[in-house]
Amino acid sequence: MSTLDRQDSPGRRPDAAGRAALALYRTAPLAVRAHVAVRWWSAPFRAVAAALPSSGRIVEIGCGHGLFSAYAALSAPGRVLTGVDIDQDKIRHAQAAARRTDRLTFAHAPSGAVPEGPWDAAVFVDVLYLLPAAAQRSLLEETVGRLAPGGTLVVKEMGVEPAWKVRWNTVQETLSVKVLRITEGSSFDFVPPATTTGWLEDLGLVVEHRRLDRHRVHAHHLIVARRGA
Ligand SMILES: C[S@@+](CC[C@H](N)C(=O)[O-])C[C@H]1O[C@@H](n2cnc3c(N)ncnc32)[C@H](O)[C@@H]1O
Repeated sequence: MSTLDRQDSPGRRPDAAGRAALALYRTAPLAVRAHVAVRWWSAPFRAVAAALPSSGRIVEIGCGHGLFSAYAALSAPGRVLTGVDIDQDKIRHAQAAARRTDRLTFAHAPSGAVPEGPWDAAVFVDVLYLLPAAAQRSLLEETVGRLAPGGTLVVKEMGVEPAWKVRWNTVQETLSVKVLRITEGSSFDFVPPATTTGWLEDLGLVVEHRRLDRHRVHAHHLIVARRGA
């Protein structure tokens, strides 16, 4: 078993920082509390957060209600998190949650905008698939340009196999994006992780790619890319 599996597999029960992050939403409307609880359950936040540096300025692009940013901040006291999203309503709930803690701020940002850096790390968790492939590539380029020397880019997206996991995810995303409109976006484009990895290598980054889908119904993949110092 790899280190990553050990981090991610012992159930999905939140650790202390996860409990503290979820508790930030205790006075939020039921729909928001349910949404963040489902995000914790379905996404491998612990493994994604473990790929971030333990200190420094970190930006999450497409932070939604902000649970991942909150968790990343609460799990390492040296991290200062800024989350941005195109969805004003989600950002309002994220800002309400962030009032209960420090080292955590949220702001609305238009699509394609990357806040001024330099950032020690930037992270995307299930966001890029909502953009066409060409827009994914240019957003990644823009983000890499805002990283500090030696900075880290962390991308968690879905893979394109096995077929049954892809089908499961497609049904879920069709409901979420096109039917219930819980997630902003009009279509989705699941780019193979090897393609994303290639784009980042073309930008001169050193890239590691790992699967995170063991014991999970979603085809989670993690890409960790580092800029040279
Ligand atoms: C599946 S949610 C993930 C939210 C959060 N990262 C998490 O892991 O819980 C996808 C988020 O991406 C946001 N989003 C979609 N297109 C975006 C864009 N072009 N720029 C920034 N955020 C975007 C949506 O508003 C939504 O909040």
